[in-house]
Formats: sequence, structure tokens, C-alpha cells
Amino acid sequence: MISFEEPLVACGVAVKDIAFQSCISPSCGKKYALDEIHLECEDCGQLLDIAYDWDQLEVPSTLHAFDGLTGSPQDPRIRSGVWRFHSLLPFAPLDRVVTIGEGQTLLQQAQSVARYVGLQEDGLYLQYEGMNPSGSFKDNGMAAAFTHAAHLGVSRAACASTGNTSASLAAFCAVTRQMKAIIFIGSGKISFGKLSQALDYGALTVQIAGDFDDAMRRVREVASRLGIYLVNSVNPFRLEGQKTVMFRVLQALAWEVPDWIVVPGGNLGNSSAFGKAFAELYALGLIDRIPRLAVINAAGANTLYRLYEEQGLRWNQGDPQRERVEGYYTQMEETGQRAATVASAIEINQPVNFYKCLRALETCDGVVREVSDQEILDAKAQVGAGGLGCEPASAASVAGARKLRQEGVIAAGDRVVCVLTGHLLKDPDATVAYHTDNAEMFQRVLASRGVEHASFANRAVVVPNDLEKIVEAIEKNI
Ligand code: F0G
Repeated sequence: MISFEEPLVACGVAVKDIAFQSCISPSCGKKYALDEIHLECEDCGQLLDIAYDWDQLEVPSTLHAFDGLTGSPQDPRIRSGVWRFHSLLPFAPLDRVVTIGEGQTLLQQAQSVARYVGLQEDGLYLQYEGMNPSGSFKDNGMAAAFTHAAHLGVSRAACASTGNTSASLAAFCAVTRQMKAIIFIGSGKISFGKLSQALDYGALTVQIAGDFDDAMRRVREVASRLGIYLVNSVNPFRLEGQKTVMFRVLQALAWEVPDWIVVPGGNLGNSSAFGKAFAELYALGLIDRIPRLAVINAAGANTLYRLYEEQGLRWNQGDPQRERVEGYYTQMEETGQRAATVASAIEINQPVNFYKCLRALETCDGVVREVSDQEILDAKAQVGAGGLGCEPASAASVAGARKLRQEGVIAAGDRVVCVLTGHLLKDPDATVAYHTDNAEMFQRVLASRGVEHASFANRAVVVPNDLEKIVEAIEKNI
């Protein structure tokens, strides 16, 4: 085990002197050392941040310092799109970070999707996190959480998951061989693409009767009882890794800040991490303005939308009305209200990062919208037709951007980045059911969720095994 008592040095300073954990409530602000494990503040129950004493750190004076880095392929700054930005998340020394090659992703200008959203052709960019080793953005955060866990010498790590966190945890365990993965999933609540990853990578897979919210509650209890390290995004180290998604977006735009970042909202880890990333860059003088943030819920899992847009709940500079949130959760439980959406990755009613997301919305002058499963799947088909396939939850960002454009909140000339959080192949059932003319499959997978039609279906052409008929079918359909 590596102890933080050892003089670990990042950027020339002992790590324990420059990074710590801190309660996000300004009226509390209690601090904890990096080698402590807490999922909430002992005093007030709020979430924790990783915080830095930036004055003691050597932060580059310009973001251009991150351009043109050279080194050996094994240098984490070359191998990883997370650790390339090590000096902006310096909670561990560079020679002790864990990487499986995460974060080598792509920002692609998408003309046809821009037209669909209602933007100018050069106005829409897709940040494609499906290129990560386990196929979703989760690997960014997992690299950071694993780095922390490895320093603590833990041997078992757990998460509850709608499928991507578990795939990422299982992949990191399988590649690094440092820990055993234990994953909790709600039975019937995970797509086969994601389940197959956890099984293939050798994770201990615990299927419980219930949904993600049930699994999340249980995994917290089990982790605390058995002393297992929890890697859900309630773990503040996860969010440090996820900040780098925004660093990569900015870098791909030659460090020009876009007008909007649009992201799906589930457990609200990404939106929280993005807000923190921009707040820190701004405070460090590395950017001169902060983009606006749009968080998009599925209509069947819309806690953030209901509380933020309909009920006007705000971070309120650190004084959100927590009793209203708790009351809303209690009411959902008492009335048996369950999250339900075809975008299974974001089928979550009680997001663990709710308060951090409120803070991010304040930082970024944010908005929240809900989109129907119909809107999600139609947007997904448009993304696919543009060449970058994504899973349903990811397409919520594009559907949300379109809605905000129709409302005039996003202007036609704005520069908009939609984050595509996960790969198309994560949930092939949803895609095939959308494009099929098999009524039974459409009914079972999509219509039962309220999807009425596949507006952009690309049907397979069925032909007999006969050369003339095949040629005829191609000429008729091309
Ligand atoms: N998109 C995808 C593909 C996801 O897997 C998730 C979350 C989200 C969006 C939502 O992101 O939680 O940061 O708001 N998936 C989690 C999981 C819950 O268990 O894999 P968030």
C-alpha cells in the first residue's frame, strides 16, 4: 500500500499540502485529507469536492501549454486524455496515476445533425465519448477514482450502475489487476451490450430486484458494511477525471469557449464536473468567459427538470432548500413513482449529485429541459445518420439542443457542443427495434415506452436468396 504520508509530489509540492477534500456547503466547508474515504460530509451530510491550494501549484499561465505535448507512449500525458491535463487535477503525482488509455476522444463538427437541431452547418459539435476503452465517458472518472483507490491500497471496488459505470469499473479491474469489481444492477434495467462487458471482464455481478435507485441505496450500505471502495460519481475523485471532457472540448476548439454545452442528466456527475471545470478555469484566469450549460433529462426520469425549472429550486449560492428536495424524494417513494425511459442509462429518479449540479447550473447560467423517448430516439437516428452512433441516453443532448433551439433559448448562430456519452453498440436492441419493421420487437422494446413511430427508420430490405431478385431490390431502393 502506498500511503499519503509518504512525500508524494505533484508539480513540485507534497500532495497532501496542496489537495484535500472539502464539503461543498460554503457555510460548513469542512476539510478532509485525501486519504480519508467519505461519501458525504460528516457534519452536514453534503457532498464533497476535491479542492486545491492553487497558489502553491505550478498551473500553466495559458491553456496553449497543453498543446503539442511530446513524450514516450507510456507517459500518462500522452497515453491518457485525462492525465494530459494533470496539472488541472493534481491530487496525485503523475508517476502514480492509473490509466487504461482513456480520454482519447473526438470533437466532430456535424453538419447534418446541425441542420436537424436548427443551427448553422458549422455550429454544432459532437463530443464523442464512445471512443473510450469501455465505450463511454465513465472511463475519464474511473481513471481518477482508480488512482485514488490504488494509493489507498484497496482491493475491492463496487458501484451501482445502469451499465456504463459497471463496464468501466470492470474494465479497469481487468486491465490493472489491482482490484476486484463488484457491481450492482437492477434486474432487467441494463442493456445487453453493457451487461456483456461486465460479465466478460470478470466482475462479480449482483442483480437485485429493483431499479438503479434501489441498487444505489444498497451498494452504499454494502460498501460501508464490508469496507469496499465505492466508485459511483458520489465519489468526488470521479468528477475530477470527468472535468477533462471539457478540457478536451476546449482544446479541440483551439481554446475558444463555445456558447453552449449540452449534456444528458442522469446521476448528474458530468454536469457537476463540467461546472467545476469551468469555475476553476475561470478562477485561474485561463478562460475569460464560461459557456452556458444545458442539462437534459429524459421525461420519464425528470427530477432535475421538475425541481429546477418547474419548482424554481436553486443552488442559491450554497443554500439550496434541502428539505424540499428530500420531501420530493419521499413523495416519489410514497407514491411508488419509478423512473421509466428507453434511455436506460439515465433512468434515475434520485440523482446523487443533485446539489453539485445545482451549483454547476449557477456557475454556467444553466437551463434544464426534459425530452420524450420519441424525441430521444429520433435524435439518436440523426446522430447515427451523421456517422457517429450513440446510445439512447446520449442522444438526449441532441434532442435537448433541438428543443432549446425551437424555443429560441439557443440562437441559430450559437456554437453548441453536445456530449455523446456512450457508444451506439452499448444498446443495439434499441437501435434495431427502431429501424425494424418487426411489429412485435417495436412493441416490446419501444412502444411499451411510449415511442409511437420511428421517424427516420432505415428498414432492412428482405429478399429471397436469388441473384435477380437481389439486384432488382438494390436498384429499386438505392
Ligand atoms: N449517458 C450515459 C451513456 C450514461 O451511462 C450515463 C450515466 C449518463 C449519460 C448520465 O450521466 O450520471 O453523469 O448525469 N450512467 C450511470 C451508470 C448512471 O451507471 O452507468 P450522469
